[in-house]
Amino acid sequence: MSVYVALLHHPVYNKRHDIVSTCITGFDLHDIARSCLTYGVKKYYVVNPMPTQRQFAERIVDFWSDEEALEFNWTRAEAFKLIAIKAELADVIAEITEAEGQRPKIIGTSAKPQGTISFKDLKLDAGDTKQSYLILLGTGWGMTEEVLTQADMILEPIIGEGGYNHLSVRSANAIILDRLLGR
Ligand SMILES: C[S@@+](CC[C@H](N)C(=O)[O-])C[C@H]1O[C@@H](n2cnc3c(N)ncnc32)[C@H](O)[C@@H]1O
Repeated sequence: MSVYVALLHHPVYNKRHDIVSTCITGFDLHDIARSCLTYGVKKYYVVNPMPTQRQFAERIVDFWSDEEALEFNWTRAEAFKLIAIKAELADVIAEITEAEGQRPKIIGTSAKPQGTISFKDLKLDAGDTKQSYLILLGTGWGMTEEVLTQADMILEPIIGEGGYNHLSVRSANAIILDRLLGR
């Protein structure tokens, strides 16, 4: 079984429910890559259609990819090896399909209760060597309905105390990976 994660910067909603592209942040590169490596994710895709945004991310990834970086902070450099930067979700799906020999099952995520599958039911089966999974994460005010309709399933939201539910994507990713892959 292979698990992949993709962080989408387009198409996502802004506060006014317009469809926008968001910017890549340094901490989304660092923190999500570390969680992905901790839980055995095969690749962490950072998806942004804006060439200057991809160049920005590539510059950071390049910085952490040489011998000097490895010596200075090997835990960060190791995590950065998981990052792949792409323009479109379709490019991600095509690359995984090519690598795995079949289309991954796509898992949408949202803080809104539109989930079609519970964590308990999805608990990923490490013994299932054939199936690959792609977990989609949003930025801004979350992925558009159009993106979520491409998913084979949408995970139930993480619910805490109940009154406030505004996790960062970094925290949400760590909780999702722990619930699906944690021992
Ligand atoms: C909408 S973005 C918010 C990004 C925010 N600006 C930040 O700094 O992280 C958060 C993304 O994390 C995931 N997420 C956040 N809260 C969640 C929850 N309660 N349950 C499941 N996924 C959640 C979803 O992928 C969502 O699109």
